[in-house]
Amino acid sequence: MSEHIKIVEVGPRDGLQNEKQPISVDTKVGLVERLVDAGVRHIEAASFVSPKWVPQMAGSAEVMHRVPRTANLYYSALTPNLKGLEAAIAAGCEEVAVFGAASETFSQRNINCSIRESLERFRSVIEVALESKLRVRGYVSCVLGCPYKGDIAPERVSEVALMLSEMGCHEISLGDTIGRGNPNSTRRMLEACIRVIPASQLAGHYHDTYGMAIANIVASLELGLRTFDSSVSGLGGCPYATGASGNVATEDVVYLLHGLGHETGIDLPKLIQAGLYISSALGRGTSSRVALAMSSNCSTTSAD
Ligand code: HMG
Ligand code: MG
Repeated sequence: MSEHIKIVEVGPRDGLQNEKQPISVDTKVGLVERLVDAGVRHIEAASFVSPKWVPQMAGSAEVMHRVPRTANLYYSALTPNLKGLEAAIAAGCEEVAVFGAASETFSQRNINCSIRESLERFRSVIEVALESKLRVRGYVSCVLGCPYKGDIAPERVSEVALMLSEMGCHEISLGDTIGRGNPNSTRRMLEACIRVIPASQLAGHYHDTYGMAIANIVASLELGLRTFDSSVSGLGGCPYATGASGNVATEDVVYLLHGLGHETGIDLPKLIQAGLYISSALGRGTSSRVALAMSSNCSTTSAD
């Protein structure tokens, strides 16, 4: 049965936060404009974190002020604390995201506090965001493995996810930060989460380090998930997760979903152009297999 699948494009944030080279605000805005033109409607375009921790996101306020605004277009931003939330509100975000973890060590390295401390901090961020009529998304990182501690118990993931949900997050994005999962471990982790939160409120956020992300999305669809995060051109990585590579490429996810008969509202050829734009701005090739196939003369098969 054909269903609408929500794609949350995280390329402008997750995709670019880890780049070594400077990326101008013009380039970031140019990327968002092309994504919007391709029909992407949920875009994580900014991150209001400490510029000392993640210098690439320093221009976020300016990016948010310059991106296109139309009906049914939703921008979100990472907000680790109230200072970040204030900046996101001033910049006109429709949604903000708090980001916790299922691994203590990762939590310390990424946001400089324990899981418990982070949840206390998020409680006030969520309260103020909801009072200001913003929707709040909750991330849980390291759901299928931690770069420092290895395996993570599915119950640890569902526990943190439930706490974020109970605090008021409308959607919980489950991050395979280091892309180490496979369909079996993904299923086990999701089954634990679905015991406490409906699948319709969960999102899969799979990095593609081991090339398993598409398979993990198929496993997640079978368990009822209908929201996936991805990065155009497969950009991305977390500066505090050594060895993590990019998110699954949005082009590949869209090709998969259209091939399965689902609908995303996204125009694949235009999305591929958006990916080629940012890859060229970064001076390297795309990591999307579909973009490579469809932009070469070898294959002209349309998935639309
Ligand atoms: P801290 O050093 O413990 O915080 O950092 P602090 O409160 O002591 O503040 C230190 C300085 O940062 C102060 O400035 C603050 O004003 C400033 P100073 O007085 O030294 O000049 N500061 C801020 N500046 C701007 N915006 C803010 C802000 N907050 C404090 N919001 C903090 C704690 C959380 C701020 C820091 O650890 C941080 O910014 N971490 C962000 C790390 C990050 O962005 N990681 C990548 C995103 S997570 C990810 O990629 C995973 C995900 O994709 C899912 C997945 O794949 O798993 C979401
Ligand atoms: Mg990520």
